[in-house]
Amino acid sequence: MTKSLANARLESVTSTFDKADWASAYCNVEKELTNCPLEVLKGEIPRELNGVLYRNGPGRLERGGQWIHHPFDGDGMICAFNFKNGSVNLTNKFVRTKAWQEEEKAGKFLYRGVFGSQKKGGIIANAFDVRLKNIANTHVVKLGSDLLALWEASSPHALDPTTLETKGITTLKGTLHPGEAFSAHPRFDPGHNGGRRMVTFGVKTGPKSTLRLMEFGIEGEKSGELINERKDMFNGFAFLHDFAITPNWAIFLQNAISFNPLPFLIGQKGAAQCLSSQLNRHSKFWLIPRESGLFAGNRPKIINGPKGFVFHHLNAWEENQEVILDSIYYQDFPSIEPKQDFREINFDSIPEGILKRSKINLSTNTVTTNTLSKQCCEFGMVNPCLEGMPARYSWMAVSEIKSGNAPLQAIKKLDLINKEEVFWSAAPRGFVGEPLFVSRPNSKKEDDGWVLCMIWNSKTNSTGLVILEAENLTEQAILKLPIKIPHGLHGSWVDSI
Ligand code: CO
Repeated sequence: MTKSLANARLESVTSTFDKADWASAYCNVEKELTNCPLEVLKGEIPRELNGVLYRNGPGRLERGGQWIHHPFDGDGMICAFNFKNGSVNLTNKFVRTKAWQEEEKAGKFLYRGVFGSQKKGGIIANAFDVRLKNIANTHVVKLGSDLLALWEASSPHALDPTTLETKGITTLKGTLHPGEAFSAHPRFDPGHNGGRRMVTFGVKTGPKSTLRLMEFGIEGEKSGELINERKDMFNGFAFLHDFAITPNWAIFLQNAISFNPLPFLIGQKGAAQCLSSQLNRHSKFWLIPRESGLFAGNRPKIINGPKGFVFHHLNAWEENQEVILDSIYYQDFPSIEPKQDFREINFDSIPEGILKRSKINLSTNTVTTNTLSKQCCEFGMVNPCLEGMPARYSWMAVSEIKSGNAPLQAIKKLDLINKEEVFWSAAPRGFVGEPLFVSRPNSKKEDDGWVLCMIWNSKTNSTGLVILEAENLTEQAILKLPIKIPHGLHGSWVDSI
C-alpha cells in the first residue's frame, strides 16, 4: 500500500491550525430540518450505500448571552442522514429533555452542567443545587423499535427512528429504574455466542462501585429484550465511560482517579471538575465473565493496569491465555478549570490521546502495555463484524501533527499488524469528528466499505459530511449541510430503520 499524498504532506509540517478556526464550529444549531436533501459539493454518493447514519452531539451552547462552560454540557441534538440510491436526506432534532423544554421556554439556563456550566448568579445561585440535567448528548443507537439518545449518568431517551420525535425517558421495558445510569457506550456483539447483541452497562459509584452488565437482543423476536445481566461490586470510585467485549469477557479499565464532591456541592465547580487523577497510582482492569461465555457465573478478575487515563477503547480480543485491549490513553484527566473559556484553551497544556495496547495475561495476572502510535487520536473503531475479535484495520480521528496535542483534523486508517498508515486530511482549515466505518453490502474484505465523517470547514463556515473509500481513504463525496453543527460526539449506522 502506498502512502497517500496527504501523508507526505503531513510529514512536512509541524503545526497547522488556527485556534479561532477550530473554535468557530461552536455555535447554536439554529434549525431543525425534516428530510432535507443535501448538496453534493464534490464527487458522487455511492449508490450501494443505503441506510441511516445517526449522530449525536451538543447543539445548544448559549442561552440569553450565557455560554456553557464545556461543550460536553450542551443539549443533545440528533442528526439522521438517510442514504438511498445515491442521494441523502437530513433530519435533525434536539432531544426534548425535561431541561431543554424548560430552558427553551425560560430563554436561560436553569440547571448546572456536569462539566462546569453554572446558572447565573454565582456560587449562591449554584450551591446545593445537585439536580442532574440529563442532556442526552453523547451517543445514539437503535435498540428494538426505538432510537436511544444516551447520556451515561442517567437513563436513555427514546426517539422515533424516522422522525426523531422524542417519546421520553425509557426504562427499556422495565429494565431500568427511573433515572438509573446507563452507559453511552454500548458494544455490539456480532454473534460470538449465538445471535447478535447489544452489551452495555450502568455504574453506581461511591467508595464502592456497583456495575450492572446488561445484554440485549438486537435481532429476531428478542430484539430490544434484556437477555441477561449481572451485578458486581468493586472497591473504589469508578469513572467508566467505555468498555470492550470479547466472546467471554467484558473488560473495564478503572482509572486511577478520585472524586471530591465538596466544590460541586458548594457551587464552585461542576461534578466532573471534582475528578482528579492519582498520577502515582495504577489503573485496574476489571474482567467480568459474560453470561453467554465460557466463564459464566465466575467472579470478575481484577488486575493492575498501567498509569494514565482512558475514555475510549478501540477493540479487544482473546489470544491463548491473554486478553488484548487497545485503548486511547491520556497522561491525566483533561478538565477545563472554572475561569477558563473552552474556546480559548491552550492545546499544548492538555494531554493528547495516544493509542496503546495492553496484553492482559490471565494466567499470571500481569499486564504489558506498549504504544501503537504516538500521534494524537480519538474516536477509533474497527469493522463492526470484528468487534471482540482480532481486527487488522482501524479507523480513527487524528491531529494533523505527528506528535503533541492539537485538534482532530484528519482521518487515519491504521493497519494494526504492520503499522502502515493512510490519511485523509481536512487541514489546514477543516476539522473532523468521529469517523464511522460502514461495510459494503456482501463485502468479503475487512476494509471493503466506506468511512463517513462529519467535518467543520472554517473557511466556508459550514458543516459537511465526507464519504471516503475505507480501504485507501480516497474521497468519494463531500456534502454540505444547510445548518452549522458544533464538533460532535458519537454516532452509529443502521442498514434499515
Ligand atoms: Co465516548
